[in-house]
Amino acid sequence: MKKILITGGAGFIGSHVVRRFVKKYPDYHIVNLDNLTYAGNLANLKDIENEPNYEFVKADITDGELMNTLFKKFQFDGVIHLAAESHVDRSISNPMEFIHTNIIGTVNLLNAARLIWENFEGKRFYQISTDEVYGSLGATGFFYEHTAYDPRSPYSASKASADHLVGAYYHTFGLPSVISNCSNNYGSFQFPEKLIPLVINNIKYSKQIPVYGKGENIRDWLFVEDHAAAIDLIFHKGITGETYNIGGHNEWKNIDLIKLLCKIMDRKLERTAGTSEKLISFVKDRAGHDLRYAIDSHKIQNALGWKPSLKFEEGLEKTVEWYLTHEAWMNDVTTGDYQKYYDKQYGKR
Ligand code: NAD
Ligand code: TYD
Repeated sequence: MKKILITGGAGFIGSHVVRRFVKKYPDYHIVNLDNLTYAGNLANLKDIENEPNYEFVKADITDGELMNTLFKKFQFDGVIHLAAESHVDRSISNPMEFIHTNIIGTVNLLNAARLIWENFEGKRFYQISTDEVYGSLGATGFFYEHTAYDPRSPYSASKASADHLVGAYYHTFGLPSVISNCSNNYGSFQFPEKLIPLVINNIKYSKQIPVYGKGENIRDWLFVEDHAAAIDLIFHKGITGETYNIGGHNEWKNIDLIKLLCKIMDRKLERTAGTSEKLISFVKDRAGHDLRYAIDSHKIQNALGWKPSLKFEEGLEKTVEWYLTHEAWMNDVTTGDYQKYYDKQYGKR
């Protein structure tokens, strides 16, 4: 029996990773460690919460002593580290929280792993990171595994710092680690502060769609279950000390993506064609807004045989359908502080 720690498993990507591992590996004991911030939601895991190989622990990765205690108690063989503050806009209004969680939290986990892993044989610390650490591209080119880090937002700088610490623990102490840097994910259970679920929700309630700047920024979108599949492969077959880029080779200008979502929503909600597009509202740009992200994912494709399983239009259609049929989930996550966040974020722009 392998004991695997997944941090941030109650969040968007983490919940898909936990579900995949719990279902696919009945011999593993999966511990989901999460402190349930606004972005963490145990409802994301309702379908697997009673599985015998699954356990939830509510804990904060910024508490180093607690991490040491939990690592001693559980004797984890592997760590898949996703817990983080993940939203760029929030990192602009509150950078310190990102420094604390993303940097200090990661070091606490590295220290706790070092403490119990006397022998590194069969052990692995897997850091889940983002393509945003590479900075911003112009109209052409791609991010490769060898591209130098050049983070430009407090979020990406905190993730870059954490990645460097993971690398430093590997080089200095031999702590066996692997890192992956993925492009923008979309799919079910994503908190509606991020572009795609926010747009779907706003269209549903005929609220304005806030497009930052001119909508010309480009993101490379990947279906979240394809990311979870890549994480599974890298965790089991990736080479220690290496980095893998994960992306869909699927670049979209924000405005084009939003217009596509408008068309899908008009059709699904049986509204006259063009109704949703009227909600588009160009608002003040994000400070330091990165222009373009684009991942070259040939390494993971060639070395581990991974490739995205879904065409974007198919994935987007599935995603819209999911949000429209999970009204209770959306209502739950948009009550409480959400409205306060929304008004603060969009009211002042
Ligand atoms: P998310 O915000 O949906 O989830 C983050 C989870 O971490 C939440 O469940 C939250 O409760 C938990 N968490 C936060 N602070 C914690 C703390 N101090 N202690 C314990 N748990 C804590 O994020 P996501 O979009 O699922 O991203 C997950 C990871 O993947 C992050 O590390 C992010 O940097 C990375 N990533 C995200 C994307 C993307 O498109 N969303 C792309 C590439 C990489
Ligand atoms: P987001 O989902 O926040 O992901 P990230 O900033 O990590 O890439 O944003 C995706 C893109 O959409 C980004 O270029 C910012 C833009 N955006 C808007 O135009 N309006 C919005 O309301 C949001 C949340 C994002």
